[in-house]
Amino acid sequence: MTSAEPLIRFEGVSKTFPSGATAVGNLDLDVLPHELLALVGPSGCGKSTTLRMVNRLVEPTSGRVLLEGEDVATSDPVRLRRRIGYVIQDVGLFPHRTVAQNVATVPGLLGWDRTRTRQRVSELLEVVGLDPDVHGRRYPHELSGGERQRVGVARALAVDPPVLLMDEPFGAVDPEGRRRLQVEFRRIQQDLGTTVMFVTHDIDEAVRLGDRVVVLGRGGVVQQIDDPVTLLTRPASAAVEQFIGAGRSVRLLGLGRVSAADLVASTDLGARTERSVPLGATYDEAFAALATSGMDAITVTDDGRPVGGLRAADLVAALRRLAESAPAQEPEVAPQTPGSPGHQPSLADG
Ligand SMILES: Nc1ncnc2c1ncn2[C@@H]1O[C@H](COP(=O)(O)OP(=O)(O)OP(=O)(O)O)[C@@H](O)[C@H]1O
Ligand SMILES: [Mg+2]
Repeated sequence: MTSAEPLIRFEGVSKTFPSGATAVGNLDLDVLPHELLALVGPSGCGKSTTLRMVNRLVEPTSGRVLLEGEDVATSDPVRLRRRIGYVIQDVGLFPHRTVAQNVATVPGLLGWDRTRTRQRVSELLEVVGLDPDVHGRRYPHELSGGERQRVGVARALAVDPPVLLMDEPFGAVDPEGRRRLQVEFRRIQQDLGTTVMFVTHDIDEAVRLGDRVVVLGRGGVVQQIDDPVTLLTRPASAAVEQFIGAGRSVRLLGLGRVSAADLVASTDLGARTERSVPLGATYDEAFAALATSGMDAITVTDDGRPVGGLRAADLVAALRRLAESAPAQEPEVAPQTPGSPGHQPSLADG
């Protein structure tokens, strides 16, 4: 991934609003093809502004935003926005159009024929876990908040855009539904290979979804860019460490994955399991499956075949092993990672 040309590049990008508020200050940032880059930071730190400069809803005061090497300032905004999916927290579905018509918006603008559009709409509604025959005919007010957000994702994916900008897209969903949407969305994104900039103020969501996580501080200044495990184990500064907060080890555990070493033989479990997760599922997912199964164990599968069982006690033991093997938690000051394109100097440098 390190040798790939960035799909999106921010070059010295600043945005100061007429009010005098500097939302983004001299941002250098590369978004690599097919990655999910999570932007996280406190309210008002410039996350939405950063995102909106990609599809020209906001114009930078200085610097350039490049999409596939081309300055977006030279692109026609309407055509640009058809190439870039955009999902926002309140989704912005058209209230007087059915779910299917909402998802068909951009195909309609692009003049797709009806058969192709209908096929694509059905396919996408299925992908996000909605029934085209049931939900497709409904209007947005006839859906739950979580279902509306799924429609928002489906609509943004309708023409399979190479880039998807998501601004707190799951914010309106309750924690359990949100967890499920995150898992499903991540699977879809990996299947389609979509490059995603994902804004959230929720560090848990950022580390669960991101291939890399950008921590922004006040004035849109980058404090750290790293993969989730590095971010959690080696925060670049006291400020980042404080932002990550006390739940750090729990989050780290959420990144662990079910392996063969965690399992007990299925025969030891009898009939006490009805849900399953595949090998390689995150411990988070295994926890969720256990919690919703109402049983005291789940089945673990490999290629669809059961290879063992996982009880709550096995999960706890696995988590403990992971915690013990995790790197020490003393923050290193500004870790030096020469050659790493993602690394930026932290606020605390110097
Ligand atoms: N159109 C605007 N005019 C003036 N100031 C603005 C405008 N949009 C945003 N700002 C200011 O720019 C700063 C960054 O705003 P932005 O919306 O990017 O923050 P954010 O990180 O997305 O916050 P949140 O987590 O609350 O959504 C804030 O101080 C905000 O008040
Ligand atoms: Mg915002």
